[in-house]
Amino acid sequence: MSCPERLALFGDLLDVIAPPGPGARLDDPPAGVRWRPRHWLLIEDGRIAAVQTEAPGADWPRDERPGQLILPGFIDTHVHAPQLDVIASYGTELLDWLQRYTFPAETAWADDEVAARGSARFLDQLLHHGTTSALVFPTVHKGSVDALFSAAWTRGMRLVAGKCLMDRHAPPALTDTPASAERDTLDLLQRWQGRGRLAYAHTVRFAPTSTDAQLQLAGELHAAHPGSYVQTHVAENRAEVQWVRELFPSSRSYLDVYERHGLLTPYSTLAHGIWLDDEDRARLRATGAVIAHCPTSNLFLGSGLFDWSLHARVSIATDVGGGTSLSMQRTLAAAYQVAALQGRRLDAFTLLHAATAGNADSLRLGNEVGRLEPGCVADLAAWDWAEPDSLLAQRLQFAQSLHERLFAWLSLGDERLLRGVWVAGKPQAAASG
Ligand code: GUN
Ligand code: ZN
Repeated sequence: MSCPERLALFGDLLDVIAPPGPGARLDDPPAGVRWRPRHWLLIEDGRIAAVQTEAPGADWPRDERPGQLILPGFIDTHVHAPQLDVIASYGTELLDWLQRYTFPAETAWADDEVAARGSARFLDQLLHHGTTSALVFPTVHKGSVDALFSAAWTRGMRLVAGKCLMDRHAPPALTDTPASAERDTLDLLQRWQGRGRLAYAHTVRFAPTSTDAQLQLAGELHAAHPGSYVQTHVAENRAEVQWVRELFPSSRSYLDVYERHGLLTPYSTLAHGIWLDDEDRARLRATGAVIAHCPTSNLFLGSGLFDWSLHARVSIATDVGGGTSLSMQRTLAAAYQVAALQGRRLDAFTLLHAATAGNADSLRLGNEVGRLEPGCVADLAAWDWAEPDSLLAQRLQFAQSLHERLFAWLSLGDERLLRGVWVAGKPQAAASG
């Protein structure tokens, strides 16, 4: 038997395994917040083996990071790989933004070389932002899925993705048919579903770009392949909601279009969900489907203010390129601000939980990622609290509690504070130490 691959990582460990309940005191870390400064995290064969205060034996290679914050790698539950090229595009709401910027960018991914280069760049950018797992939209092209999964496989990342399904209301270069979608999906499922850390998501772009026949196909394929996921968009923009009403007059609501086709399950993640009603929320609750809250995108495209407090299952996501950053700190800071505009407050522990254990649970991956727990895969990120002499460094000097420090860090920090990232215990080149 070969020797196990080992690494002992030293630093200030923080993970939030459950959000503080309403009214919890934040000054002393509440139950569910594990703050373990000056601890060793032992990694063996890619998994967390132990967390302890005693230094490990001499047979453990060491990586000591005194003063650095060691967190679970972030998880992004809704992001578009080909849209890095159109992030921060000026002047439009959703439907015009798709036509003017997004569809042309996605058309370029018909070329396998473009898709391969773009996928590598995209995953390296995720890692560069401390994000180690994601639920991702590539494009309608089968080659884009192969490119993305191949690049994730090379990096050992936990990734869920699938071919975009869109058989109408898009440029011809971006449309498939139910028959070609079925062929491509079956082929991709066979190649990628459950291979290593990869899983397949039936990726309905959104109801307006799929016929009933294609939506039905997606629901049937999902039911026939346990462990596969569903991802789509829902009720993001008011003009979009009106369009869906016209396209599907017999459905009670936008969400109902998906439910009728078997697309609402505990493995479904629907981005946005701003313009839903109480009955929709009851259906989400009953089916276990998740809304991915995309605050920077909702602000940037002027889509609206999502009310997190009304929902049972919510994950958090960047939605780049509608979103304006791959940084989870920036995304969480925007979520705080969106809640504040509605008279609510999201504490820093709840926010950090959302981007780690909460997002892992939303994908039913809580035993694998999102927590610093023996048995979990060692997907980790090491962060500085601040650059020396920065505004954040000055602010932290006045912080009285872990919560105050963390809230300032989430509000003012970003990917520039990343000092190391590990995927299944392997250091990644994307971040420098
Ligand atoms: N709805 C359909 N496609 C998209 C997309 O690419 N981004 C966003 N934000 N919404 C969508
Ligand atoms: Zn999106």
